[in-house]
Amino acid sequence: MGCIWLATLGVAACGDDPGGAGGPGAGGGAGSAPDVVRPQATEVLSAQVSQVTLPPELQGDSALRLAVTTDGTLVGGGAHGLYRLGDAPAQLSDRPVRGLAATKDGILVATDQTLLRWSGTEAPAPSPLARLLGTGQPLALATRGDEVWIGASDALHQVGGSSTLRFADLASVSRIATFAGATDLVLGGPAALRVLRQTMTMFQTNQLDDEVPMLDAVPAPGGRLLGLSGGALLERVAVTGGGAWRPVALDKDGPGATGVEALAVDPVTGSVWVVHAMGVARIEGTRVATLARPMGLGKVTAALATTDGSLHLYDGTKVVRVATDTSGTGPVGYASHIAPFYEANCKRCHVPLGRAHSLDGIDAWKTEVDNIIVQLEAGNMPDDKMPLSSGGPGLVRRWKQGGLLP
Ligand code: HEC
Repeated sequence: MGCIWLATLGVAACGDDPGGAGGPGAGGGAGSAPDVVRPQATEVLSAQVSQVTLPPELQGDSALRLAVTTDGTLVGGGAHGLYRLGDAPAQLSDRPVRGLAATKDGILVATDQTLLRWSGTEAPAPSPLARLLGTGQPLALATRGDEVWIGASDALHQVGGSSTLRFADLASVSRIATFAGATDLVLGGPAALRVLRQTMTMFQTNQLDDEVPMLDAVPAPGGRLLGLSGGALLERVAVTGGGAWRPVALDKDGPGATGVEALAVDPVTGSVWVVHAMGVARIEGTRVATLARPMGLGKVTAALATTDGSLHLYDGTKVVRVATDTSGTGPVGYASHIAPFYEANCKRCHVPLGRAHSLDGIDAWKTEVDNIIVQLEAGNMPDDKMPLSSGGPGLVRRWKQGGLLP
């Protein structure tokens, strides 16, 4: 793929591009700036849209929180309490809700005073994690795989399998964006957005909007950070002496996305949802899937991604659930999800005696799962560039996170 003249830097960037995929920004056509981050593969998905009825107490709540239990029950919280939503709506607590997180032991609830746990049947009970907070009040919750992160008035707390950490210099964090396996957490609070990055040996914090004022930002796999500034979708890239933000395009030859209303990161897969005036996009590596914008939705004030792989869009009065054929409430299994995905997208080449090495059977998928995710997110596979159906890299990530179930 020849040389690209980077006018702003005054240097020629040349690459022979052995993988045939081109680096981000390398695939520009006429009139496109070379410094735009572009997808390598795009596909159009059909969205399954359903309306979620909110009780009057949650309507108009500017700090609506949502979470889904492992059996698919949606709960919502706000200033007037905690509610079970869906077919049998009910109030579960009348304490103001500051944060919700879906864990294996049920929904963790941060109220204005303490932490509660709702197992799905009885009334919410005090959570054993509450003792970590001492006199501090909880403000935000998130999970990163099996870890729970608690933003509180006194400090940021991390609860791992066997250890807990307390970050006393990160007090009053009221928003946490991260996902299972992420290296980064984006923290919102009274001050500017910050990113907490975990390296092999330490944690490091950086102010995120030292370069450009950021309304919101989310981490993505591979140490990526995507941000929202003035309606534009941007990605932070490391440059000498700091970071710079580049526009991100949602298609192969358009300009960087604008009119963006909200961002959300899938807590399990790290797929990034982008809600813009024209539609909804899901970024998985260098692959972008686009979905139509649900009808009748006002300007989206919050996009809430839940552990079932779906996205909830809130326009200040109503909530619409957007799901794709790979979102579901249950866990991802080989027989139920991965085998059909293989049949539809890979089998035409990856069979014994086929064009490419065999990926037939669960053992091949277990052995190669990490590379499969890499190849899918890079847009390298399918080799013939046919659009994917019945899933994508996010589905394979969900399968891996769920323990490679048969
Ligand atoms: C049109 C043919 C074709 C399709 C369809 C296809 N592949 Fe491939 N794939 C290849 C070829 C050719 C290679 C290189 C030879 C090899 O590794 O067997 C390859 C290589 C790979 C590799 C190893 C790449 C590396 O460099 O390490 C992985 C992993 C892979 N494919 C996964 C998939 C998955 C998953 C699918 C389905 C979603 C898929 N491929 C669909 C042709 C295809």
